[in-house]
Amino acid sequence: MSETVPVPDRVRAGSPSKIASRAAYLDAVAHATADPSGYWLHQAWERLQWRTPPTHGLKGDYHSVLERPFTWFDDGELNVTETCLDRHLATRADKTAILWEGDEPGQSRRLSYADLHREVCRAANALAGLGVGKGDRVVIYMGMVPEAAIAMLACARLGAVHSVVFGGFSADSLRDRVADSGAKVLITQDEGRRGGKPVPLKAVVDDALRDQAVDKVLVYRHTGSAVNWTAGRDVWWHEVVPGAGDTRKAEVCNAEDPLFILYTSGSTGKPKGLLHTCAGYLLWVTWTCQVTFDLRDDDVYACVADVGWITGHSYIVYGPLANGATTTMFESIPTYPDPGRYWDLVQRHRITILYTAPTALRALAAYGDGPVKKYDRSSLRVLGTVGEPINPDAWRWYHEVVGEERCTVVDTWWQTETGGHMITPIAPVTATKPGSATLPVPGVLPVVFDGRDHILVGPGEGKLCIAHPWPGQARTVWGDHERYVQTYFTAYKGYYFTGDGVRRDKDGYYWITGRVDDVINVSGHRMGTAEFESALVSADEVAEAAVVGYPHDVKGQGVWAYVVLQPGTVPSHDLPARLNGVCRKVIGAHARVDIFQFVPGLPKTRSGKVMRRILRKVAEGMPESLGDLSTLADPGVVSSIVDGAAQVQR
Ligand code: PRX
Repeated sequence: MSETVPVPDRVRAGSPSKIASRAAYLDAVAHATADPSGYWLHQAWERLQWRTPPTHGLKGDYHSVLERPFTWFDDGELNVTETCLDRHLATRADKTAILWEGDEPGQSRRLSYADLHREVCRAANALAGLGVGKGDRVVIYMGMVPEAAIAMLACARLGAVHSVVFGGFSADSLRDRVADSGAKVLITQDEGRRGGKPVPLKAVVDDALRDQAVDKVLVYRHTGSAVNWTAGRDVWWHEVVPGAGDTRKAEVCNAEDPLFILYTSGSTGKPKGLLHTCAGYLLWVTWTCQVTFDLRDDDVYACVADVGWITGHSYIVYGPLANGATTTMFESIPTYPDPGRYWDLVQRHRITILYTAPTALRALAAYGDGPVKKYDRSSLRVLGTVGEPINPDAWRWYHEVVGEERCTVVDTWWQTETGGHMITPIAPVTATKPGSATLPVPGVLPVVFDGRDHILVGPGEGKLCIAHPWPGQARTVWGDHERYVQTYFTAYKGYYFTGDGVRRDKDGYYWITGRVDDVINVSGHRMGTAEFESALVSADEVAEAAVVGYPHDVKGQGVWAYVVLQPGTVPSHDLPARLNGVCRKVIGAHARVDIFQFVPGLPKTRSGKVMRRILRKVAEGMPESLGDLSTLADPGVVSSIVDGAAQVQR
């Protein structure tokens, strides 16, 4: 049984949080469980800036979600940017809102709340001038520059719906997202920079828009490199934003109006655009950002994720800004120019809360303790992780080497769909266990299913569902409500199915065991195996492909592709590189197969279904536990796959 790590005194001391003790946590759990609607309504009054405060909380439930999506606070009116910006002007206009650290160490910019408010108003005025209005969709394809956050907030100011697409996605992926969202305007920059290398952004946009029109492309100049220009469509940011007027009245939105669409991978090939709405989402990220991290007014907070993922939306932009915090935007990577980069960042800016991913910690731990110890980390108080299960060794390295046992580690479990934290330690309250996301946020009701219908009580392992709607929950899949219901609410009637496996121990602590569907999590990037498969079969040489995840020391999961070549095709030396080129083109730079195994056939049932369970076991290195093979059409295929896997260099 693993050890319990108490909250260090230094973390507990001086917490101004309303949930700073076990008694306060238990009280919140009792209230939020007994009356979730009333509890969150009170929190919404207290924590958000309203134009018209709502008079009720939840309407609807998971049973009727197909006919009538559930809503929170649906007679309330607000504009999200008034919570994130306007209300801070009276109290902290000069406080740094965004602290930008560029790709080169020491290259930084600071925007105060007054600066950010002005820039957001200007950008909103400029976007309005380009024809953007309430409900219109705007795709944002940028790197980690403050203008990415400004663009998001400018959309919110207008009541427009942003959809940020991670800057590593390919032209094909970007085009699909522009088309699916029906975006009118796209915002990009000439180039991004990561790890000393340029990231082409405008060039990818040009490629994506070859056969997919938008009205305007707004281009922020960052590196100053030459870009192609489409007259009449392309507009320079610096030509329209700075002079666009320093104030802009915020559009009044209904609580349930859409705030953003964020595409994420699922079990099928087509990414789904999860829709988050204004008030419920904002409450969830405001509340959890403050409570989980025990965010204090003098904190220097750094979530080193990318705004292209949900972590960047919730815990770089909306959550910290709603709380009036100083939030860091980090353009670089943990190993540039060397593996001391995070700790250099911590020392220079006196960072107090650091939020990163297990994959980064594993990669950095491989360089030993030297690069960490070179820098002063005494400012740190809370160390967060997110995105994938953290193995106890990486957890301990974070706690003992990085935090010198003075900080608490918050392993936060959540998803694009959940908007914000769901199972997580609360920094000043929760005793932790290395590798466990610990306990649910008040009002979150995890349920563990063993098999199809049986709910486990007490310790046990199974599939993780949530029993009751919470305000931050995604309301639909953009343009496909049926898919939303099908994906999340049909496997376990009356429950939200997360797609994750979980173990609950005797203390009620939760240990996420990873995805139980066809989603893989590579270095914290969520990808569908079906996306890889459809990319691979688009190559001329490939007849069939099946892709599974396998345990990988640094990335958490690696990508293993079983490929059947077209008759007569020989797997030449350069074929893996060429096929990875296809994945890069179809999906993006982060989509890379680690292991190609060329096989004579795939294990299929007599009805032609690929038995992925077998492929997973082989990739996991457990060919002795393949289970029942009697339903296979050709059991001989399996032995050749097992033999081939034994030759593979992991
Ligand atoms: O499998 C879980 C894993 O990441 C998935 C959600 O991915 P995404 O929507 O891209 O959001 C990532 C950032 C929230 C989950 O279904 N995951 C996320 N956090 C953890 C985790 N697995 C274990 N422990 C975590 N703390």
